[in-house]
Amino acid sequence: MNITDLGGHSGCSILLCETEDNLVFVRKISGSIGYNERLESQAKKQSEFRSEFVKAPRIISTGYKDGLFYFDMEYIAGITLAKYMNTIQIGRVRGLVDSIVRSIVASRNGQLEAKEDIFKKKIKSLTDNLKRNENKTVSRALKLLNNHNWSRFTRTFCHGDLTLENVIVKDGQLYYIDFLDSFYDSWLMDISTLMQDVQTMWSYRFNEEQNINTLLRLIVFRDILMDKVKEMVGSEYIEVYYALLLKLIRIYPYTSDERTLSFLDEKVKSVMTIIEEKAV
Ligand SMILES: Nc1ncnc2c1ncn2[C@@H]1O[C@H](COP(=O)(O)OP(=O)(O)OP(=O)(O)O)[C@@H](O)[C@H]1O
Ligand SMILES: [Mg+2]
Repeated sequence: MNITDLGGHSGCSILLCETEDNLVFVRKISGSIGYNERLESQAKKQSEFRSEFVKAPRIISTGYKDGLFYFDMEYIAGITLAKYMNTIQIGRVRGLVDSIVRSIVASRNGQLEAKEDIFKKKIKSLTDNLKRNENKTVSRALKLLNNHNWSRFTRTFCHGDLTLENVIVKDGQLYYIDFLDSFYDSWLMDISTLMQDVQTMWSYRFNEEQNINTLLRLIVFRDILMDKVKEMVGSEYIEVYYALLLKLIRIYPYTSDERTLSFLDEKVKSVMTIIEEKAV
């Protein structure tokens, strides 16, 4: 068997495998026994994902080796959406955003009641966790999050980690990979993860050769995305920014270098400005 390492940052191994009879597949192996359960639920979520607009690599088989869970899936010979944004024609961005939004929104049916408590608990433990990191910006953000009414976050299907790195594009078709369980499943969370990429340019933050054309494409992506959300939920679009604010604040406990901290501060402030301007 021929094996190439595809990398990955989560601690899992992602291997491109080719058998003697030229069968190609990707094997994702848990990084530790403690992570097995999360990877199992990832495989389950991926195999259950159905959408007219976006696909997911087919799961071929699952198993354990040396106590570690793994799953084999179809190899999608494309590029990540993050990379694709460097070259996509501006005119094609709308169709792409449309497919993504439809793929999440189609699963909005069968909504269950939102559980405000889950958010309150999360924000409480975050506040305790952030005692060390507390600065003026963080305090302001925590106050906004604490005073927010989270009941509009109805429970729906949610990819869990919908970044531009976790979408593969091949021949114009989108595929989701790297599904994740999250503390709360709501389509608003997925939109806010996308916004973390296209509003704060998080994945591109220290890319020295930041291409102005890519930035423009990301801005077009963001504007189309938010227009679609507004079309769907009207003034409730602001919930996306609350979710984004929560997302950004959750990064602080893991951040120690000054450069990332000041980048975070700046992004948190700009999201708070959007929220506060909407409130007046
Ligand atoms: N089925 C697949 N077909 C083609 N490429 C894939 C496939 N699965 C993973 N990859 C490639 O491997 C990379 C890492 O995979 P994945 O996102 O599952 O890894 P991770 O370690 O869980 O996450 P991360 O790097 O996002 O923290 C992807 O960005 C993609 O480029
Ligand atoms: Mg990934």
